[in-house]
Amino acid sequence: MKNSILLTGATGFLGGAIAVEAIRRGLADRLLLLARGDTPAQAHTRVIDNLKLLGASDNEMRQIGVRHIVCADLSELDGVAGDARLDDVSVAIHSAALATFSNHPSLEKINVDGTVALARLLHDRPAFSRFLYIGTAMACGEDAVRDDAIDELLDLPLDEASHLVPYTHSKALAEHRLREEFPDLPLVMVRPSIVVGHTVLGCAPSQSIFWVFLVAQMLGAFTIALDDHIDVIPVDWCAGAILDLACKERLASNVYHVSAGFESSVSFRDIDIALATARGVAPVGAAYEQFDVASLKALLPRMRECIPGCNDRLLLRALKLYGGFASLSYIFRNEHLRAEGIPASPPLTDYIGRCFESCRHIPVAEQMKWDFK
Ligand SMILES: NC(=O)c1ccc[n+]([C@@H]2O[C@H](COP(=O)([O-])OP(=O)(O)OC[C@H]3O[C@@H](n4cnc5c(N)ncnc54)[C@H](OP(=O)(O)O)[C@@H]3O)[C@@H](O)[C@H]2O)c1
Repeated sequence: MKNSILLTGATGFLGGAIAVEAIRRGLADRLLLLARGDTPAQAHTRVIDNLKLLGASDNEMRQIGVRHIVCADLSELDGVAGDARLDDVSVAIHSAALATFSNHPSLEKINVDGTVALARLLHDRPAFSRFLYIGTAMACGEDAVRDDAIDELLDLPLDEASHLVPYTHSKALAEHRLREEFPDLPLVMVRPSIVVGHTVLGCAPSQSIFWVFLVAQMLGAFTIALDDHIDVIPVDWCAGAILDLACKERLASNVYHVSAGFESSVSFRDIDIALATARGVAPVGAAYEQFDVASLKALLPRMRECIPGCNDRLLLRALKLYGGFASLSYIFRNEHLRAEGIPASPPLTDYIGRCFESCRHIPVAEQMKWDFK
């Protein structure tokens, strides 16, 4: 394999979608997939199971064999340092991370140290020419300077207090460490906004975050104003945009929001209408109540009544976390991305019906597990 693309995170939501999109673009033979497993064969099985979930056909799955697998954990990369296939890697797409809002004890070890270790593994290799670090737009912190949107700026806040959760802090730290420790690394920061569902498969591959919209409508209440906009993108469009950035010969910038931006962000009101249509219920509309995060606990009785089978305390905790982000109602400017000729994201309202259909029989408590693994 010459001119290889090393992709991490192919057993996850976004990394899996990137792998499927790469196969569809005829790039299977260039892929090397770094994945965890007791053996390369087991890591391969885990990857294939996920590609299937993300819509890969039998023919597409057949194009990925054990020969495409680099079996490794980000915390133990020394074991693969002698793998000669890494000398042919020209582009790395580093999508693997602990993407959790919980206070996971390994966040720094995997998201920061693991990222630095991956850069160390690759940066001196002869063919290596681009490291796409998949960050998160939310790593701009809760006090991001803005007029009406968040700019695509390289610097991110590094103090913990600027971040709503340790996860976004770890993503900001990883970017900082990469820049500090590898000043010559051909580094591109790629920051998706909020990834929800798939334009064709809805939420069948992952119900991550979708349940928040559902719960907000069932409660008739959340932390965002009804006419505020929210920056959400589908995983397949996000994957395509990332591959475009990976494959373009030259990039004009070194930081990109992969976001809906002004063009495709939608108001909470429009989401309410589109979701209500899909559910066959009336939109909440004028009855909607906006709460601040601290007051969400007043909704506990309503949670017990409207969200059957849910652990109300757990749901409250989750709504506080997601409500904190929603109340910021950030729109992430994506001029850098659009200037590369990458088309605008489809708006959530175009495919939220498919998201609902794909998981209408899955209880909210089950859907939430995607975000509290
Ligand atoms: N989803 C979003 O809304 C969103 C938004 C903005 C940015 N992002 C970023 O996008 C990237 C992918 O997120 P996602 O939603 O696809 O997350 P995900 O579904 O949870 O997938 C995470 C991936 O990382 C891998 N991973 C975790 N720990 C690892 C380790 N120690 N060694 C090797 N691989 C490891 C997982 O492998 P295992 O299967 O072995 O655990 C999995 O493949 C992340 O960097 C995240 O910060 C996501």
